Amino acid sequence: MNESLTNTEPLLTAVELDKSYNSKAKAVEVLAGASLEVHSGEILGIVGASGSGKSTLLHILGGLDRPEAGNVLFKGQNIFTQGNDFLEQFRNRHIGFVFQLFNLLPDFTALENAMFPGLIANRDKKSVQEKAEELLGLLGLKDRLNHKPGELSGGETQRVALARSLVNQPEVVLADEPTGNLDSRASQHFMDLARKLNEEMNQTFVIVTHSAKIARSLDRILQLADGQVKSIDKEVIL
Ligand SMILES: Nc1ncnc2c1ncn2[C@@H]1O[C@H](COP(=O)(O)OP(=O)(O)OP(=O)(O)O)[C@@H](O)[C@H]1O
Ligand SMILES: [Mg+2]
Repeated sequence: MNESLTNTEPLLTAVELDKSYNSKAKAVEVLAGASLEVHSGEILGIVGASGSGKSTLLHILGGLDRPEAGNVLFKGQNIFTQGNDFLEQFRNRHIGFVFQLFNLLPDFTALENAMFPGLIANRDKKSVQEKAEELLGLLGLKDRLNHKPGELSGGETQRVALARSLVNQPEVVLADEPTGNLDSRASQHFMDLARKLNEEMNQTFVIVTHSAKIARSLDRILQLADGQVKSIDKEVIL
């Protein structure tokens, strides 16, 4: 295929996603025709009120949850119609996840936590370890490889989570409020590192954030409201 054509195809496309939750209390319609594109090499921000469906959208984009209607395409391929093996591989190899609450395993060291997705993917242990050490070094954690999460600061913990999300060299990192539990200095440091990875490795990110300051530093911002995704100008964000 023509190089320039393949380069313009979005990495991820969400097409008209519908999702509702049926709890006993009442059915909540969260996504109603939500569509978006994620392009290679961008840092895309997603903002929206609490409860507007940002986490739900990110989970569906990463194949962690299924929509009731609509599709998610990864490089043009529908991720929900290829079978469970494909979906598992998609989540493990092609997407990196960073969650607000870090989700590191408390009994394992920083290095072991960062290696985890590589071992799940059945990759050669030595090359996974090399990659994890390289990433932890790049993120300023060279001297913390053998620390367990309880022995790390919040910012350091979140940088281990970032290293873990990158260990399989995924095309896209989906980050759900990655700086939500960090103070402003640690948040800025985390975002500076994301930008560095973006500039040096062309790493693509989708970052959900409540912070106007962070949103304004991203390449493009989408807002989730009333179940739909709208593009908004940085200047509009207060
Ligand atoms: N498993 C569930 N069962 C029932 N309702 C749910 C479930 N998960 C989420 N919801 C509801 O769906 C809506 C969207 O939730 P979601 O977590 O996607 O919002 P969000 O935009 O990420 O919010 P926040 O900014 O507070 O993290 C909320 O109103 C929430 O109460
Ligand atoms: Mg959320």
